[in-house]
Order: sequence, then structure tokens, then C-alpha cells
Amino acid sequence: MIPLPLARIAEITSGALAGMADPRAVVRGPVVIDSRAVEPGSLFVAIKGERVDGHDFAAQAIADGAVAVLASKPVEVPAIIVGDTVAALAALATAVCADLPETTVIGITGSAGKTTTKDLLARLTARIGPTVAPAESFNNEIGHPLTVLKADEGTRYLVLELSARYMGDIKHLTRVAPPKIGVVLNVGSAHLGVFGGKEAIAKAKGELVEALTSGGVAVLNADDPLVAAMAERTEARVTWYGRAESAAVRAEDVTVDARGRAAFTLRTPSGAAPVRLRLYGEHAVQNALAAAAAAYELGLPVATIAEELSEAEPRSRWRMEVTDRQDGVTVINDAYNANPESMRAAFGTLDTLAGGRRRFAVIAALRELGEESATLNEELGRLAGSAGLAGLFVVGPDAEPVLAGARAVAQDGASGVPGGGDPGPDGANSPQEDQEDQEGGAAAAATVHITHVADAAAAGAELSGLLAPGDVVLVKGPRAAGLERVAAALLEGDRQ
Ligand SMILES: Nc1ncnc2c1ncn2[C@@H]1O[C@H](COP(=O)(O)OP(=O)(O)OP(=O)(O)O)[C@@H](O)[C@H]1O
Ligand SMILES: [Mg+2]
Repeated sequence: MIPLPLARIAEITSGALAGMADPRAVVRGPVVIDSRAVEPGSLFVAIKGERVDGHDFAAQAIADGAVAVLASKPVEVPAIIVGDTVAALAALATAVCADLPETTVIGITGSAGKTTTKDLLARLTARIGPTVAPAESFNNEIGHPLTVLKADEGTRYLVLELSARYMGDIKHLTRVAPPKIGVVLNVGSAHLGVFGGKEAIAKAKGELVEALTSGGVAVLNADDPLVAAMAERTEARVTWYGRAESAAVRAEDVTVDARGRAAFTLRTPSGAAPVRLRLYGEHAVQNALAAAAAAYELGLPVATIAEELSEAEPRSRWRMEVTDRQDGVTVINDAYNANPESMRAAFGTLDTLAGGRRRFAVIAALRELGEESATLNEELGRLAGSAGLAGLFVVGPDAEPVLAGARAVAQDGASGVPGGGDPGPDGANSPQEDQEDQEGGAAAAATVHITHVADAAAAGAELSGLLAPGDVVLVKGPRAAGLERVAAALLEGDRQ
């Protein structure tokens, strides 16, 4: 970050120096909230969380080289005392960002694909200037300002992910770092429970384009009606991307290979170039187009955009990570998070990637869907139940609607294990196991083994015993379900 003396930080945050803090001592960064990430020159921000209170680590942070602690109570070491450390963090990031006139801020929001698009765009902007982008999914009132604070005078592009849990969240983040370009990906059902409806989600996401000035650019998805409607809500020029022919930046001739990776012709107003993605899933096309449209606005040649998009590997963990075990079992780890749309996308990829191979899925009930929860989870069950699985494992609490949906379709469907394998020894089933051996019928989409398991460890253990060479496993659930542990268990000792 820009070097700042403690006196200046106190002024920006309306804080008071305490614990013999030297007003001339200079913070050079990084600004961190995890004491384990402290480096000499750091500012340690003490945040009181649900389980841990950062203030308990103040002394450790100073011992490890932090210049001071930003705290909401005295901590017996050099500190700046403020009323609310999260608000102070935002104030600091706002001031730092305002001091960086040479830095172009690009904000990305949407229900699904923010991190993927952020990673792609950061790769593109890195071709034309030093770029700062968040690690992982830093997109809330803490992660976002922490990322902004990584920027310094040399930074030319700041690529930020903005998430909304409540109305006004995105507006707040755009005040911290006013974007020049705002990218809106899609409006789905994530956090439906908090917002109470898709229109409300669209309203919240639209705060990004409302924050743009007339000199800015709104990069909008022409294929999503709720995003398209946001064009009315911005003073900025609009650049459309999507599959629609009306989109300025669009994908033509999209094909998907046997591994589920898409290729297409990237068309822009200044030319076209072929793209062959290494990312899995057809939905990645949308994210690639969004990144391409923003990069196009920044002046990158279409050939460069196409080249970078084609070279990009997944950067952030647990999003469509496809691994082939030595024994020929393929594991699709998409356990980072889930909502109805990304579940659909993931099962679509499983379908393409598995082809005629035997398929399994480990999922968990979707959360934060409010009144729609039972309906949407039953829909998820139906989706899974008709995905041609040999076995479906539903992990953890609130699984009933998912199980019911899956059973309903499996009962409607036919018998047989796709790929011809035996899903496993009947005698080894857990008490909760509900085996659905179906009789007759013609559809290929019957789930023969529907199992409810208590947790990720149990799912990993049970499934490991069933897998045979050639099988494909999809692992996907909401963040809180921690299903990456299932993927880890399946891949243990099998890294190539
Ligand atoms: N355009 C898309 N449509 C549907 N699903 C998508 C899309 N892009 C990504 N996904 C899926 O959504 C999940 C999350 O992807 P990603 O981390 O890029 O999104 P995000 O918006 O950053 O999520 P979060 O809000 O959790 O930070 C992954 O399972 C990914 O495969
Ligand atoms: Mg994210």
C-alpha cells in the first residue's frame, strides 16, 4: 500500500493513538486481519468475529513486526483506537483509493461467476499494467477494502469483486473504491432468503452501475433480462456482452469438448479471434465474455484477449477443479459454493464430461433461500435424480427436500446403473441409506442409490468404497457444507 504514518491513519479513521504508538512510525503494508499474515511494516486490524476476537492477537501481531494495531479498545501495544474497526478499514481504503488517480478500478458483481471473471480479467489487465486483484473471493466489507489497500502508486488496474448480502452493500463498496468500469454478470437465486425475491437481488446488484459516472462503462450481460434492465439505471455508456447477436462482445459457434470445456469465436467491434477455454463448464463462456468485454473497453487487442482467455487455468480453488486419479476415476471438485444456477451448471458439466461413464454426485442442501428453500431444494433433488447417477450422496442437515425430489424422479425413472457397474455392496450401507432399486421403464436417468450421510467425512468414506476405475464424481455444495473435504478424501494419495 501507499506508506502512511500512524498520525495520518489516525486522522483518516478518526482514531486516537494509544499504547505509546509513535505518530511518525510508517505503515508500509500489508494491512491484515489475520495475525498469522503479519509482516514487518504491517497494520494489524483487530476484528471481533463470532468465534475469535482479533484483539486477543494484538501482542502477537506487534511481536511479529506490525507497526500498530487498529483496535476498538486499548490492547497494551501501539494502537489506533477507533469506534468500529471495520468502518475504519473502509475509511482507510477510501482514502488510499482517492490518492491513486492513475489506478482504474473495475468492479464485478453478479450471483455466480464473480471470482472466475475477476481471475480472468486480472490476467488480461496484467498484460497492460500492474494489477491488484483480491486473493480468492475477497468481496465483502472486509475483504474488499483489504484488497484496495494492496494497491499503491504503481497499480494501474484494481479488479474488485463486490458481493451483496443486503441492500446497500454494493453501494458502500463502490464508495470505498469508485469504479470506472462496472461488470454485472447475472441475477440468480443466491441469498434469495435475505432479499426475498430476484427483483430485489437485481436492485442490489444494480447499485454497481448506479455508482458509475458518465465517463464510465457498464459492462452488462445481454442474455440476462434482469441485468439488461440495469442499462436504465446508469449514467455510464453500456457495453453489452453475451450470446445474443445484439451484444457487441459475443461468442459465436460455441462448442464444448468431451471434457466439458468450451471453444468459441470471440467477436468484438474491432475484430474476432478463436478462444479455447481450459476452464470447465459451458457457463465459463459467459464469464470469459464479461472479462473480454471489460478488457476490450480498456483497449486490449482482441487477439491478446483471446490468447489469454485460452491460457487461463482455474486460479481460485474448488471451482470446477477436474482431477483424474491414477486409477481412472475423475473427480470434479466444485465444492467452493453452490446456488440453484451453479448447481445446474455443474450437473451440465458432469453430463458432458461423464458421457457413458458411471456417475456419482455428492451434494448438500442449498442454504439461504428463504421461503423458496424447500421448493428449490426439491428441484435440486430432481435435477440430481435425473442426472443418470449410479449414486447420489446428500450430506448434512436439511436434506429431506433434496432426498424427496431425487426419489420422486428416480421412482418415475427406470432401473439400471449407467455404465453398468454395481453401485456397491448392499450390506455396507448406512442406516440412513435408502436404496431405490427401480423396476422397468425406459428413461436412462434413474438414481439407483440415494444416500443421506451425516457429514463430509462419512460421505468420503462411503463413496471411496464404491468407486471403480472410470467413474466420475461431482462434489458440490454450499460453502458451509465443506464438501471440499470429500474431494480431498477421494484424491488423497492420488495426486499425479
Ligand atoms: N456464469 C455462471 N453461471 C452459473 N454458474 C457459474 C457461473 N460462473 C461460475 N459458476 C459456478 O458458481 C460457483 C462459484 O463460482 P465463482 O466463485 O466464480 O462465483 P462467485 O460469484 O465469486 O461466488 P461467491 O459469491 O461465492 O464469491 C462455481 O461452482 C462455478 O462453477
Ligand atoms: Mg467469489
